Amino acid sequence: MVMFTVVRKETTPIEGQKPGTSGLRKKVTVFKQPNYLHNFVQSTFNALPADKVKGATIVVSGDGRYFSKDAIQIIIKMAAANGVKCVWVGQNGLMSTPAVSGVIRERTGADGSKATGAFILTASHNPGGPHEDFGVKYNMENGGPAPEAVTDKIFANTKIINEYFIAEDLPDVDISVTGVTCCNGPEGPFSVEVFDSSVDYVKLMKSIFDFESIQKLLSSPKFTFCYDALHGVAGAYAKRIFVEELGADESSLINCVPKEDFGGGHPDPNLTYAKELVARMGLGKSSPQGELPEFGAAADGDADRNMILGKRFFVTPSDSVAIIAANAVQSIPYFASGLKGVARSMPTSAALDVVAKNLNLKFFEVPTGWKFFGNLMDAGLCSVCGEESFGTGSDHIREKDGIWAVLAWLSILAFRNKDSLDGEKLVTVEDIVLQHWATYGRHYYTRYDYENVDAGAAKELMAQLVSLQSSLSDVNKMIKEVRPEVADVVEADEFEYKDPVDGSVSKHQGIRYLFADGSRLVFRLSGTGSEGATIRIYIEQYEKDSSKTGRDSQEALAPLVDVALKLSKMQEFTGRSAPTVIT
Ligand code: G1P
Ligand code: ZN
Repeated sequence: MVMFTVVRKETTPIEGQKPGTSGLRKKVTVFKQPNYLHNFVQSTFNALPADKVKGATIVVSGDGRYFSKDAIQIIIKMAAANGVKCVWVGQNGLMSTPAVSGVIRERTGADGSKATGAFILTASHNPGGPHEDFGVKYNMENGGPAPEAVTDKIFANTKIINEYFIAEDLPDVDISVTGVTCCNGPEGPFSVEVFDSSVDYVKLMKSIFDFESIQKLLSSPKFTFCYDALHGVAGAYAKRIFVEELGADESSLINCVPKEDFGGGHPDPNLTYAKELVARMGLGKSSPQGELPEFGAAADGDADRNMILGKRFFVTPSDSVAIIAANAVQSIPYFASGLKGVARSMPTSAALDVVAKNLNLKFFEVPTGWKFFGNLMDAGLCSVCGEESFGTGSDHIREKDGIWAVLAWLSILAFRNKDSLDGEKLVTVEDIVLQHWATYGRHYYTRYDYENVDAGAAKELMAQLVSLQSSLSDVNKMIKEVRPEVADVVEADEFEYKDPVDGSVSKHQGIRYLFADGSRLVFRLSGTGSEGATIRIYIEQYEKDSSKTGRDSQEALAPLVDVALKLSKMQEFTGRSAPTVIT
């Protein structure tokens, strides 16, 4: 058996290793700097309780982006040197973020052990490649991202680190084949187990959904389907689930081979970046030849995000979570006994609020970032939750789950069509959304992103928006000058959240302007970028009158958009006359 020794290496702190909304994300060139990854990994080990490191089992895997393979070998060697007993790695280093969460919660290893945490190697929806992004985040024993108390500690450690430990003489482990590699170190045996995580993930999905009814839907000649993994890690699961388990045609899958650089694309499932799917679904500029699919979906690099489309129809993520919540009990066996509660992030539209009110469900509004949902779920307070940023999920794991969301929609479609698959007309995605609006009203919604803005300018813009909040009469005067038809602002603040479970308080979670008619403007700085700053504006307006729910959303929201640009002095501060992405 291979023996290894532990080497102590001297190092010095490196600036800027503060984990953002979802881990540490930087350019690959930054991560490749000497000691950069090592410092962060050691700082993470040092931030964890000793028993979650010494003798523990941890997962190390990710979306397979460029630099992952090198990073996995480094982390394995550092884990061995820090006394970890076993490292679990997805075959080829691949494991979607939701699959990691499921593996931590559900899997038992070859030696009977359970994992207590995971290094997830991903920068989610950011592009990959030698000149693009890499990322590392740590998830805890409940399968969810490390809470702020831990990420703060990691950051504090990065500022004082002076040494790290590594088993330099441990040979690289071949992660392309499944199996267990055992070796011996100064503290005893150490092993690396490589496995195909799609097996565990399929098992989990089968325990939640009625695969038989989805299979019936997919095999109906009337129903056609298209899934775009944008060359992210979702491709490793899509074939297993949609083709092998559910009988979809292989031609339903596009860009489903995971690639280190995501094929040169931007692996973000939205109307701008999921170009091929958008065109296939008839939502592009030119209409494609032949029949359009009835249902389309896409995932991001690490497969936790989803976009849901119907034929020539886009479902906003805010509507998607509301519709899943409204239909879950009838359509998804996992929820048959009822929902414990529902939750959304603050900038997500209030469509879910209306469902919660109508169905008399517990409801929570949390700051941006999935970790806030995890606490509610651990306390048994929330079953279904979502974010406007194409994140939807449930308490089956502690991450959002892109493929779960697609299966949830397929379940709703299967349920609504269970008696009509042989009939004339299919109940479509669009029908389901229109019916929802007819029952609950519609929340017109759009998000404007200004990416890679000068960080100083972005800070000034936000500070100006906060200072404006002290005089609502001035605000309303400005509004009347640009769009007299827009309602008055009646309340303005910075969102602050007190976690109902642990009592922790998160401040400065977005600047809100709330209008008399229920409309909202929200301004936030992104916490996931790797360069400069990204300003997000969230624009929302509620329409209850069912005769007015059919408008084009950009047209319906144009007055509020003008108001947002005026209040924020966007062009003045940033020099930008248009956003980078409109969703
Ligand atoms: C973005 C999204 C947020 C999501 C996060 C991780 O964060 O807005 O909803 O939880 O990515 O996927 P942001 O860049 O806005 O901080
Ligand atoms: Zn992601």
